[in-house]
Amino acid sequence: MRPFFSKDDFRAADRSLPFSDDVRVLGDPVAVGKLSAPSRIVYQPMEGCDGTADGSPGDLTVRRYERFAAGGPGIVWFEAVAVLREGRANPRQLMLTEDNIGRFSRLVDDIRNTAVRSGNPEPLIIMQATHSGRYSKPGGVPAPLVAYPCPVLEKRGVPVTVVDDGYLDRVSEAIVRSARLAERAGFDGIDVKCCHRYLLSGLLSAREREGKYGGELENRARLLLDAVSGVREVCGGKFAVATRLNVYDGAEIPGGFGVAPDGSFDPSEPEKLAGALAARGVSLINVTMGNPYFNPHVNRPFSAGAYDPPESPLDGVARLLGGAEIIKRAAPSAAVVASGFSFLGAAAPNVAAAYTARGSFDLCGFGRAAIAYPDLASDILKNGEMKKEKLCLCCSKCTEIMRKPGGTPGCVVRDKEVYLPIFRELCGEDKK
Ligand SMILES: Cc1cc2nc3c(=O)[nH]c(=O)nc-3n(C[C@H](O)[C@H](O)[C@H](O)COP(=O)(O)O)c2cc1C
Repeated sequence: MRPFFSKDDFRAADRSLPFSDDVRVLGDPVAVGKLSAPSRIVYQPMEGCDGTADGSPGDLTVRRYERFAAGGPGIVWFEAVAVLREGRANPRQLMLTEDNIGRFSRLVDDIRNTAVRSGNPEPLIIMQATHSGRYSKPGGVPAPLVAYPCPVLEKRGVPVTVVDDGYLDRVSEAIVRSARLAERAGFDGIDVKCCHRYLLSGLLSAREREGKYGGELENRARLLLDAVSGVREVCGGKFAVATRLNVYDGAEIPGGFGVAPDGSFDPSEPEKLAGALAARGVSLINVTMGNPYFNPHVNRPFSAGAYDPPESPLDGVARLLGGAEIIKRAAPSAAVVASGFSFLGAAAPNVAAAYTARGSFDLCGFGRAAIAYPDLASDILKNGEMKKEKLCLCCSKCTEIMRKPGGTPGCVVRDKEVYLPIFRELCGEDKK
């Protein structure tokens, strides 16, 4: 199944997702704590693995954010930025430090100025703070740091280090330090990243772990909750505290967070956690699912990828959007972002508007679609629709690049002057 090139194709294929012909609600502002996002369209964090060795933004990083800013989203959710060197996912992952804060601050200014110069309102800019945990590769080879050994995720021949409580305490401090740096660099808020089975997200299912970070939900969520409280204490009252949260790890990860014994989505613990996060001052929750390395069909429903998915991509999208709806009910004071709109193609604005208008969630996140079609937000907000020749094909070529050593992902199809040569060099000829 391919993403939908017309609304009619979508209506012919699906009548279960809500759909609205009137998409104007997407242009309404929404409160995020003490701040306001000028519209309901979010450009999701999309890592380009294109920073410099010291973690500063590189040329392709700057290009990506200038294109995003010119495209008019309400929130630019700035990609994964490592809080500790050993927790970097690749040697070019961004990392904000005292030494390079000026580079980040210039990029934040650039995003705001580009937005205004392009006739768009200034977006909120939220920085994602990450520790890659199991997927750490600071020197280009796997160096996994895990909360507990998870048999289905272990790769044969790659030894994992189970980190101790003292280390997790230090990760919490590092997140708080990063938040202060992000505030000084001019970001509007920080995302304490807790998704996709990176360190904090893996901890959420450390039921067998001994000590203060394992066992009961209160313990498994301790690092996330402590970091959130720590940020709230040291950063100004307007600075938004956000989290990108996995609410379902997927049937493929038995015992994973939000996974019922039969593999289906069990939202009971995610609901409790969302309530606790809101009570600690989290004003923005970005709901996501799955593991991009292990069960990517749960994380980003695709039309072509490394395997044939066990379900229709539309079922995956429905689960993602339904998850956001559940979290909004559990944490009504937080602004909630839903993920997974790219696969809906031309129908994405209509489905987004229908959910938003009925208050199911507040904001609609575009990931792959944003790198394929960076001006999608202004097209939706000005013309009420997206141009079919610019739509994301959900073909997985961006992630094919990302999985190659030194690969700098981008859209091979719609941004081909830059990314097709990179794809050809790393992945071979474009045969699909
Ligand atoms: C190339 C690439 C880079 C990504 N980088 C990040 C990231 O830095 N942080 C994150 O939370 N998710 C990241 N994601 C996941 C996306 O934000 C998004 O959740 C996913 O693509 C599903 O949304 P979509 O269907 O709109 O693409 C990335 C995905 C891709 C394909």
